[in-house]
Amino acid sequence: MTSKKNHIISFLIFFSLISIISPFFQCSQLTNTEYHNFVATNEFKNLIREEKISKCATCHQKEYENELKGPHTSAYQKLLEHKSFVNSNKYQCVYYTNEVNKSFDNCTGCHAPQNLYETFLFDSINKQDEFITKLIQIGHPRPNARTQEVERFTGIDCLSCHFDGKNIISLNHKKLKSDSIPEFQTLQTITKNNLVCYPCHFDVFKTINPEIAIRRTGSVLCTNCHQERNNIGEGTHYYYWQHDEPEKINSKLFLVMDDFHFSVLSSKIKGEIIWDNTTIPHKISPGPEMIMKCEVLDEDSNLLGSKIIRINKKKDFDKEMYEPLGKNLLLGEVGDDAPLNGIPIKYDVDLSDGIRAKIFKISLIHKSQYWFPDSLGVLSAVRFYPINN
Ligand code: HEC
Ligand code: HEC
Ligand code: HEC
Ligand code: HEC
Ligand code: HEC
Repeated sequence: MTSKKNHIISFLIFFSLISIISPFFQCSQLTNTEYHNFVATNEFKNLIREEKISKCATCHQKEYENELKGPHTSAYQKLLEHKSFVNSNKYQCVYYTNEVNKSFDNCTGCHAPQNLYETFLFDSINKQDEFITKLIQIGHPRPNARTQEVERFTGIDCLSCHFDGKNIISLNHKKLKSDSIPEFQTLQTITKNNLVCYPCHFDVFKTINPEIAIRRTGSVLCTNCHQERNNIGEGTHYYYWQHDEPEKINSKLFLVMDDFHFSVLSSKIKGEIIWDNTTIPHKISPGPEMIMKCEVLDEDSNLLGSKIIRINKKKDFDKEMYEPLGKNLLLGEVGDDAPLNGIPIKYDVDLSDGIRAKIFKISLIHKSQYWFPDSLGVLSAVRFYPINN
């Protein structure tokens, strides 16, 4: 009886708290200061897209340069490369090629979108809660593609995320106390706080484990982990990705590798790798694959045993693509997805002579598509761990 009463009281406190703090949720707001007045001029409206972005660059040089090196600017370019690859004679999977050609315009919605706050997210500016409630019920939200080919080459650009057609939208999130309380992080709240990422990365949102994210960074903001920060903690607008240039090495990658622990079992002819995920707070996106190539070495670097661990979504995504692909499966090998429930995944490794095991080596390879051959992967990082026998 008392516990029921306590429940009701904590519910009341919870809801009054929510109603007090909700007016302060401010992740997207209009900013219409004089330095941005030029966006209303005809001169600006008549520029082609690339020139508009160059205009932003005149005052926001740092953001611009970092965007150019990151994933979003090249999103359309990568999509074109993909299409031309699957249509070349280097690639032989007719049903996949047909699907890419058929749904290309659909793909372009995420890879060269219309300005999100002018179109897809427009209603979120004034009626955020109602909008988000509806948005998260849609199975596959899709921004519309920019229609003219010449307008597409800037990929996902400043205007895609920051312009509603009249004003510049600021996306700075004011941190609240409730941001660091896992129980308060419903899908609705996480979407609200990262709304501009949702339309294209909704698969990731739907699986996020707030506890892991909060433990690592204090809140569930995508940019906490994915955006580079300068030495005083400000975002630089560089988003780490699988094609990082050498001068933009992502130290967070190593943390993923640090979660793989190796030990030799008492038989000495077997070892065990335990993946205890404390780093990735969400499942992987449908397309990409991370390969952990694990090797057990002796002190002269002779190979005693090895294991390939694949992290991908093949188990689920093949099912989703089965009908669109004319009842066919994508290629590639089934892998594991990141464990988010605190239960580690275990892998056996056969060893030729476990007594000599001294070094556990991990090579991390990134692939854009699990259904493409491993030879198209890029080696992102190599790490060595001592083995205590
Ligand atoms: C004439 C200079 C100038 C141009 C051109 C310019 N901005 Fe700004 N912008 C500023 C200044 C000044 C600020 C405020 C200081 C800051 O955050 O850097 C600002 C702030 C911003 C902010 C953050 C708003 C906030 O309140 O946190 C965004 C987003 C932004 N600009 C986007 C753009 C985009 C997109 C373009 C191109 C369409 C653009 N700006 C072009 C001068 C400019
Ligand atoms: C809902 C939005 C969305 C749609 C629709 C979409 N993509 Fe993507 N695409 C993404 C995201 C997000 C990524 C980044 C995933 C990652 O690497 O983690 C991506 C990555 C890619 C990449 C990898 C680029 C690289 O860096 O190598 C290719 C190629 C690609 N998509 C092709 C396609 C094709 C072909 C279609 C249509 C059949 C398509 N995409 C439809 C969101 C989308
Ligand atoms: C994928 C969406 C996206 C794109 C593309 C994008 N921004 Fe941003 N921008 C954001 C987010 C999110 C923030 C909030 C900053 C944070 O969370 O650290 C932001 C913040 C800003 C700010 C405020 C100061 C800062 O750096 O935090 C400025 C200025 C800005 N952006 C300018 C630009 C310009 C100029 C471009 C194009 C070169 C651009 N943005 C492209 C999402 C985007
Ligand atoms: C309009 C769709 C769109 C929006 C909005 C968007 N993304 Fe992306 N994102 C993509 C696509 C498409 C790619 C793949 C681009 C490529 O590889 O060329 C991508 C790539 C990425 C990657 C790199 C993945 C890799 O391959 O390593 C990260 C990280 C990322 N996005 C985070 C974010 C965050 C955080 C936000 C919100 C601030 C955001 N994105 C907003 C579509 C989008
Ligand atoms: C606590 C840190 C953290 C937070 C918060 C986080 N991620 Fe990630 N994310 C990771 C790590 C770690 C990886 C895997 C390492 C890598 O490849 O960079 C990853 C991988 C990715 C990738 C590339 C691989 C894939 O699965 O496609 C994308 C895209 C991505 N995250 C998007 C997001 C979005 C969108 C959000 C916000 C809803 C988010 N992440 C929140 C840590 C985080």
